[in-house]
Amino acid sequence: EHCFSKKADGFLYCEDVKVQDVMETVEKRPFYLYSKPQITRNVVAYKQALEGLNSIIGYAIKANNNYKILEHLRKLGCGAVLVSGNELRLALRAGFDPTKCIFNGNGKLLEDLVLAAQEGVFVNVDSEFDLENIVVASRIAGKKVNVLLRINPDVDPQVHPYVATGNKNSKFGIRNEKLQWFLDAVKAHPNELKLVGAHCHLGSTITKVLLFFTVFQVDIFRDAAVLMVNYIDKIRAQGFEVDYLNIGGGLGIDYYHTGAVLPKPRNLIDTVRELVLSRNLNLIIEPGRSLIANTCCLVNHVTGVKTNGTKNFIVIDGSMAELIRPSLYDAYQHIELVSPAPQDAEISKFDVVGPVCESADFLGKERELPTPDRGAGLVVHDAGAYCMSMASTYNLKMRPPEYWVEEDGSVSKIRHGETFEDNMRFFEGL
Ligand code: LLP
Repeated sequence: EHCFSKKADGFLYCEDVKVQDVMETVEKRPFYLYSKPQITRNVVAYKQALEGLNSIIGYAIKANNNYKILEHLRKLGCGAVLVSGNELRLALRAGFDPTKCIFNGNGKLLEDLVLAAQEGVFVNVDSEFDLENIVVASRIAGKKVNVLLRINPDVDPQVHPYVATGNKNSKFGIRNEKLQWFLDAVKAHPNELKLVGAHCHLGSTITKVLLFFTVFQVDIFRDAAVLMVNYIDKIRAQGFEVDYLNIGGGLGIDYYHTGAVLPKPRNLIDTVRELVLSRNLNLIIEPGRSLIANTCCLVNHVTGVKTNGTKNFIVIDGSMAELIRPSLYDAYQHIELVSPAPQDAEISKFDVVGPVCESADFLGKERELPTPDRGAGLVVHDAGAYCMSMASTYNLKMRPPEYWVEEDGSVSKIRHGETFEDNMRFFEGL
C-alpha cells in the first residue's frame, strides 16, 4: 500500500495522519511532507529483490539530500552515490560506510578526488582527463583508488532527452572504441589505480523493463547488462580482477497514478540476476527516484482562482522555485486537494500555477479539479526526488521546510524552512 491516500472521509492522509491536520499545526507556507515508513518500505523492496546476490544499494544523494533522510537510509544499510565533493562530505557526515560509496561524475574536481581517495570510496572514471586527475589525487592522498570504468553503452532509454545519459553522443562515460586506452592507462599506474569494475547509467524515469505479462516491451536494463558483462569479460581477459558490475539507477515510478502496472525493483533485479551470478559479480545499483520520489508530497495553499481567456487557473503559494520538474522537463506530477469537495462541486480544468513571474511557472496543466476555496490545501505528489534538491530561491521564495510522519504517527520537522534573514546573512560583513 502507499503512504498517501484518500480515506473514506474524503481527506488525504499520509500514513494515518490527515494532511489537513498537519497544515493546521505548521507554519503557513509550502512544505514538503514525507512518510518515513514509506522510505523504509522502498528500501526493503530493493533488499528483498537483491536477496541471493552480493550487492550495494548506492542511494543517489542528488535525488534528495536531506540529512535526516540520509541518516535513515544509512541505518537501513544503503551506500551512497555522490556527484560532488559536498555530497561526499555530507554522506561521510551522515555516517555512510565509504566502502559502500561511489563517486561519480563527468567533471569531478581534483580536490574532491583527493578526499575520495583519502576516504577510500569507489571512483568512476569518466574520461581521459578524469583518469589523470584520479592518478594525481591518489598520489596526493597516498592511497590507491578503487576505480570503475563508466561505460557509455549507447542504449536509448526512451525518456526525456534531459534525463537520458547513455546515448553515444552524451557527455557521460567512455565509448567502446576507447576502452583499450583506459585499460592501458590503468596498467601503467599500478600504484595509483585498481580497476574493480564497470559502471553504466542509462538515464532516469525508465519504465521499459521486461515484465512477464508485457513481453513486447524492450528490456533496456537487460540489454545494457548483457553489453556490460561482455565488457567485463574483455577486461578480465586482460588479467584484471574486476568484481563489480554497476548498472546505475534510473527505474521510473508511477507519476501518473493511473494504476498501470509498472516495473518494480524486483523486476529490474530479476532481469540481470542470472547474468550477475554467471560471472560471479557484485552488483551495484544506484537508485534515486525509485527509493524516495513516492514518499513525499509538496503541500501548498490555494491563494486564489482566476480565469483568463479560455483558461482557468488555481494560483498556489508553491511554485517552480520549490518544485521545478514540470517547468524543466514538462514532467507530470499528480495533483489533488487534501480535503473532500462538496457533493455538488463542479469539476473544471485548471492550470495549477505559482506566483513566480514566469509563464513557465506551473505545477500542472489542464488538471480536472473541483474549484477550491482560498487557503485550501493542494498537494503535488511524488515530490521526494529531484524536487527539494532542485529548489531555488528565485523571486526570493525561500526554500521550504520539510517534515516527516514517523512510524508512531508523530510529525516532526526534518529541515527548517529558509527565511529572509537567512538570505541577509550572505551580506553580513561585506
Ligand atoms: N546514477 C547516476 C550516474 C545518475 O546520473 C543518476 C541520475 C542516478 C544514478 C539516479 O537515477 P534515478 O534512479 O534517480 O533515476 N533531475 C531529473 C533526474 C536527473 C537524473 C540524473 N542522474 C528529474 O527530475 O527527473
